[in-house]
Amino acid sequence: MNYSEVEERIKAGYREATAQYRLDDEVEVQSENHRRLAHTLKRLCHSFPHAITALDVGCGTGRYFHCLENVFHLTGMDISEEMLAAAANPVRHEEVTVTETELIRGNVYLASFPAESFDFIYSLGMFGHGCPVTIQIGNKFHDWLKPGEFCFLTSWTLPDCPGGIKPNAGPEHGFIHGFRRISNRHSTAVKSRRHSSV
Ligand SMILES: C[S@@+](CC[C@H](N)C(=O)[O-])C[C@H]1O[C@@H](n2cnc3c(N)ncnc32)[C@H](O)[C@@H]1O
Repeated sequence: MNYSEVEERIKAGYREATAQYRLDDEVEVQSENHRRLAHTLKRLCHSFPHAITALDVGCGTGRYFHCLENVFHLTGMDISEEMLAAAANPVRHEEVTVTETELIRGNVYLASFPAESFDFIYSLGMFGHGCPVTIQIGNKFHDWLKPGEFCFLTSWTLPDCPGGIKPNAGPEHGFIHGFRRISNRHSTAVKSRRHSSV
């Protein structure tokens, strides 16, 4: 896939949609789905015995920033300038406890970070629709994670993702998927469950 070409299409789509997306945040945070994901994020953040660095891939308007706890440095990455600008004033900003937030415009397929930059990487609602879960992206996340740490992804559709990150179930819609970096170039699925929407 030519990710630079896809980038222009995705950016154009979100340019139009940002204002409505940010309005929807106010409604979505009251949903059962949001509460469930918020609970999972909090639980994962607190599974670390120390304050952590986190990467939100495709952070959009920062809908989940207020759900993070025990995070001292958050990097929010998004391909869309408009979504990222909205993330500077995310929903429930008064509840955000992250000490430092850094917002970076970038295409995750082309991005690079130093090895072992993050304790925790998560991505909610980005994969699918032109964002495939590939071995390359799995390896990037693996390299960016500190040894033994955790990655949590949700996806609208999960195509074949060989290389140790394939979930147990078939490629229907909407999975939550997690893997833990356990050794060089080998990540094992530790959790996988269906969910219907993000
Ligand atoms: C459906 S929104 C989800 C936003 C946020 N995670 C949430 O759950 O509200 C998908 C986001 O992924 C971003 N995105 C799509 N492709 C991307 C890429 N290749 N690299 C970085 N961000 C991307 C879009 O700009 C958009 O903000």
